[in-house]
Amino acid sequence: MSFYQLDEIRHVYVVGGGVMGSGIALTAALAGYQVTVFDLLETVLAKARKSNEDFTAKSVEKGVLTAEKREQVLSSVQYVDKLNASDAQLVIEALPEKLALKQLLFEQLEAQCQQRTILLTNTSSLSVSLIGSKLQHPARFGGLHFFNPATILKLVEVVAAEATHPELPALLVAFSKKLGKTPALVADIPGFIVNRVARFYYLESLRALQVGAADHEKIDRLLEATGFRMGPFKLMDLIGIDTNQEVTRSMYNAFFQEPRFRPSHLQQRKVDAGQLGRKSGRGFYQY
Ligand SMILES: NC(=O)c1ccc[n+]([C@@H]2O[C@H](COP(=O)([O-])OP(=O)(O)OC[C@H]3O[C@@H](n4cnc5c(N)ncnc54)[C@H](O)[C@@H]3O)[C@@H](O)[C@H]2O)c1
Repeated sequence: MSFYQLDEIRHVYVVGGGVMGSGIALTAALAGYQVTVFDLLETVLAKARKSNEDFTAKSVEKGVLTAEKREQVLSSVQYVDKLNASDAQLVIEALPEKLALKQLLFEQLEAQCQQRTILLTNTSSLSVSLIGSKLQHPARFGGLHFFNPATILKLVEVVAAEATHPELPALLVAFSKKLGKTPALVADIPGFIVNRVARFYYLESLRALQVGAADHEKIDRLLEATGFRMGPFKLMDLIGIDTNQEVTRSMYNAFFQEPRFRPSHLQQRKVDAGQLGRKSGRGFYQY
């Protein structure tokens, strides 16, 4: 077989320790895997470690995790600032939503990983086929799209690229279930299902704000009053305003500049000002 089988996977390697990478790593550790998180920035790694310590401490308080299991989980995660995935059986990439960055990483991974190592991207909007197009052994490559917060939300979109081995999606479904997730197979189209539809939740709210229909707090309040769990501005702050903007930009291009996907200037101004949401301490709200 051209890729590792489920019962052979022991070591899960996560590339990028930001908003998604840190949560994906903890999810895999809670499912019993040995996990490594790689990020270039020490500050990001320290934040990821702290956030995973805090999350598991709360789980102990709530009685859903024993103190002993918490220790075991925390000690199964390594945080590193050098890329070395040579002994991993499965790698999940959670780098910023930039095609060139992701493609370069997979080339590096291919050079150091074993030929059967499963390589996955957590992209929200880029073509999975395009990300994997430079691989020499693309049969073991696909998309595994988690939702934020990865430790809590159950849905995972499983994406087969053009060259993905026909049996890999079934393994990804089984792997996702082992992580306690609810996987859904989706086609490799821009934004898959959830981000494609949810794009307008953000974009229309930004347009409403820009034309002065209401302030961001009121828009959030009204949407939450109809049953949405989080208003659009709170949600953009949670996602990361830069990440959300990058996803919109990539979808706008993927849809050949269809006006309905046009990115927001107002959102771009936030990115330019470094107001990225929770992760930078300020976005639409102050943290
Ligand atoms: N934020 C969300 O809600 C969300 C949800 C689902 C999927 N995603 C997708 O997940 C991916 C990551 O998003 P995020 O929100 O975690 O981004 P993030 O900005 O929080 O984290 C990205 C991390 O990558 C690191 N990084 C950048 N270049 C690197 C390199 N060359 N090598 C190693 N590390 C590097 C950065 O230091 C940063 O910590 C994106 O593709 C995004 O579309 C995001």
